[in-house]
Parts: sequence; structure tokens; C-alpha cells
Amino acid sequence: MTAQIINGKEIAEKVREGLKSDVQELRENGIVPGLAVILVGDNQASQTYVRNKQKACEELGMHSILIKRSAELTEEELMKDIQDLNLDDSIHGILVQLPLPGHINEKKIIEAISPEKDVDGFHPINIGRMMTGQDAFLPCTPYGVMVMLEHIGYELEGRHVVIVGRSNIVGKPAGQLFLNANATVTYCHSKTNDLIYHTKQADVIVAAVGKRNTITSDHVKDGAVVIDVGMNRDEDGRLCGDVAFEEVSQKASYITPVPKGVGPMTITMLLQNTVKAARKSKELQLKA
Ligand code: GUN
Repeated sequence: MTAQIINGKEIAEKVREGLKSDVQELRENGIVPGLAVILVGDNQASQTYVRNKQKACEELGMHSILIKRSAELTEEELMKDIQDLNLDDSIHGILVQLPLPGHINEKKIIEAISPEKDVDGFHPINIGRMMTGQDAFLPCTPYGVMVMLEHIGYELEGRHVVIVGRSNIVGKPAGQLFLNANATVTYCHSKTNDLIYHTKQADVIVAAVGKRNTITSDHVKDGAVVIDVGMNRDEDGRLCGDVAFEEVSQKASYITPVPKGVGPMTITMLLQNTVKAARKSKELQLKA
């Protein structure tokens, strides 16, 4: 079998088209959805991500601000930035780019963001809401994966989904979203014995490890759907995922490439969450 490629770039463009008219409608009602990004330090990868996020906001007609701070910033100073943004009515979404320098407690910072402006979906309140099936801001990467599967019309009910990786940003919440969609979920991670035994049973494999060639054709049953969340570099410096793309695409039914797979979806879902936050703030204004 040769897999069909799930083109994340195309799906992301379609979703962004819809968002563009949502932003237009909100603007006509006096609300310009606003995203604030805080970048601490000068990590190269973070700078690129942040630039892409800002560019995407501007393309949709959203308001976006970037607060750049030095790596020596204290935790108290960062908390003050967040408190100011929590109170700023022109800002509907706040994103603190991770990772933060070691002297800053990430959990404390995430908890300082108002849950109603937590467009990353990392605040424990949003995670709890997601787990209990309530309306919540969903973490952007797993949310993007779900939207991709929806776009290809893949029915998840009763399917066995094997998640490889258990990060707070991707693996753990991805499993929860699949569970909410009535799939059966197995989590695998660095301490899992016999990874192949588990992945071989999967109807859907989500690779979110951060190590290239983690999933080879030996890990995949015929016709499985393979979602690659990895972002790595090969020996020639080219972007690649966690999946050995060439060989796995001979066995899978659907596969996401890297680049142009899950990556463009992550930013798109951030924009979607920010539009949602803006709409909710409008609803709250109307109720008040
Ligand atoms: N660093 C890498 N991915 C992310 C993300 O989705 N959100 C934030 N805030 N930081 C990140």
C-alpha cells in the first residue's frame, strides 16, 4: 500500500480562510482579536516560532504584540508582564513561549495566565476542562492533529490509537482528545518495553518523541494512519520528523509529512483559539 499524504499546509490554509471571515465579523462588531506573545531570551528556534505566529496573526487581520525580555528577567518581572496582559482588554490570548530559562518556574508562569486567555491550553483549568469533556482551550498541536483527521473524514470511534511520547504539550493531551473521540488509547514512552508490540496493533500512530527514525516500517501494521509530530534535523540539516517517511509511506494508508504536516496546523489552532477567546470576551461584555 502507498499512503495518501495528509497535507497539513493545505488544511491549515482552508481553516485560516474560515478564520479570516470570523476575524472580519468580529472587527465589524468592534473587536479585534489580539494575541500577546512573550519571548524570554534569545533561543533561535523560539524566535522563529514567534515570528511565524506574529506573521500569521497579521495575515488574518488580528492584533498581535511581542514582548521580548532578556534571559536574565526575574520570575517576578515575568509575572508582572502576565498580570498586565490579563487586565488588558485589547489582548484576548497570551502565549509565553517555552522553554523558559531554568531559573523561572514554568508551571507557576502558566498558572498565572488567566484561563480565559490561555490560548495554548496549558493552564491546569483548561486541561481539567478538556479531561472532563467541557468547553476548553485545547493545546494547539494535538488539536491540529484532530482537525487533520476530521478533514480526511477518518472515523475514530472504536479505533486503537497508540501515542508515542508523553509530553505535557503533545503526547498526554493528544491521548485525552482521542479518548474524548471514543478511540481506545495506548501511551508509549521512553520506558515502554517492546514498542513495536504496541505500535503494530495501532490503527493510528501518533509519533511525538523528538527523535528521528523512531517509527520505521517494522512498527506499522498495513493500512495504519501515521501522524508525525516530530521536528528534527537530519545529518544534512534538513527538517524531518520522528517517522522514517519513505519506508512507512509504503505501508500506511495515510501519513503526515514533515515539513508541511502537523507544523502549519499548530499555528492555525493558536489563531483559532485566539478568535474563540475574543468571541467569548464579546459574549461576556454583552452579558454584563
Ligand atoms: N514551545 C514549543 N511549542 C510551543 C507551544 O505550542 N506553545 C508555547 N507556548 N511554547 C512552545
